[in-house]
Amino acid sequence: MIDDTAIGKIIEKYDPTKLAIGTLGSHSSLNIFKGAKEEGFRTVCICKEKDAIIYQKYPLVDELIVVDDFTDLLSPSLQERLCALNVVLIPHGSFTAYLSTEQLTDNLAVPLMGNRRLLHWETNRKSQEAWLRQAGLKLPMTFKSPDDIDRLIIAKLQGARGGRGYFLANSPLDFYKKSEEMIKRGLLTKEDLAYVHLQEYVLGVNAYPSYFSSILNNDVELLAMDRRYESAVDSIGKIPASEQLEINIAPTYTVVGNFPIVLRESLLPEILRMGEHVHRKATELASPGIIGPFCLETVITDDLKIYTFEISARIVAGTNVGIGTSPYAYLRYGENMYMGRRIALELKEAIKQKRLSAVVA
Ligand SMILES: Nc1ncnc2c1ncn2[C@@H]1O[C@H](COP(=O)(O)OP(=O)(O)O)[C@@H](O)[C@H]1O
Ligand SMILES: [Mg+2]
Repeated sequence: MIDDTAIGKIIEKYDPTKLAIGTLGSHSSLNIFKGAKEEGFRTVCICKEKDAIIYQKYPLVDELIVVDDFTDLLSPSLQERLCALNVVLIPHGSFTAYLSTEQLTDNLAVPLMGNRRLLHWETNRKSQEAWLRQAGLKLPMTFKSPDDIDRLIIAKLQGARGGRGYFLANSPLDFYKKSEEMIKRGLLTKEDLAYVHLQEYVLGVNAYPSYFSSILNNDVELLAMDRRYESAVDSIGKIPASEQLEINIAPTYTVVGNFPIVLRESLLPEILRMGEHVHRKATELASPGIIGPFCLETVITDDLKIYTFEISARIVAGTNVGIGTSPYAYLRYGENMYMGRRIALELKEAIKQKRLSAVVA
């Protein structure tokens, strides 16, 4: 494990007047780079050749490093180059999608804005659930064995897979029947089944509040809110029920985009407290808790109960709906504030206060 002391030593050698903000070229990189530029930072993008067009069309990158594969980030020569450029990396969804938690915590010796030790809590469904429950959040029930299923459940696989291989079932019999079907159709393997996570399916609408935990100000800010546009599940309602039955659809949840949302104001007190409590619990699990952006994935029922089914302790792509301004960022900061810029602002403030090591890990 690359610990805080090791990162502290690297950051000590950095020239704070030349600090650069870097990330992998995907997910929320434009959001991050735009924010960095607006706060006066240099930007470094590690990107694949086929995606370089993004940064030609949106010229927000000062240093474009083309790699064959995102795992090249682990190569010592690239890491040396990033450190020589005084890069602080901003982790996003592609970091954990392409690299394992162990690779990130053990082999990446470039300062990251965020708390590396929380990664382990986040990437394992069981420990993640413990964290959220202990923070006092409402979670959907989980079932230990398929034989305990007594209501509609969603069966999930380990790790974020965009809902691929997930399925719904409402009894033990239904579960075994569906899992066999899924295996036959090649959507699931027998090995997957051993690790399947059985969670009560909560009927309601999704809301994904995005927060920013400022270590410098000791505060958790609510900055954006979105919902996702998921294929194929969001398209099923376009087909009449009779057709749906005939073609026997297994809904998948591949995220294709996001919509901004605002919640009715009466839900805000709970949403705000949830963010506070999740961070406070994190300070006990891995001090100093969450550093920077995080997002809760929730379902809100018709009796206005808010159930949380997942957390991302990093920037989520849903904050891209706020590039420029989101209502929640506007309420707090006025115009032209959004997650990418808030990240850069915190780094700028950390440099000013000579507390860079407090916001990186
Ligand atoms: N307990 C639940 N009740 C209702 N819908 C859920 C529940 N859990 C997940 N979903 C739906 O399934 C989608 C994928 O679930 P999620 O746990 O976020 O998977 P992933 O790890 O792939 O991101 C969500 O976006 C949501 O629409
Ligand atoms: Mg999810």
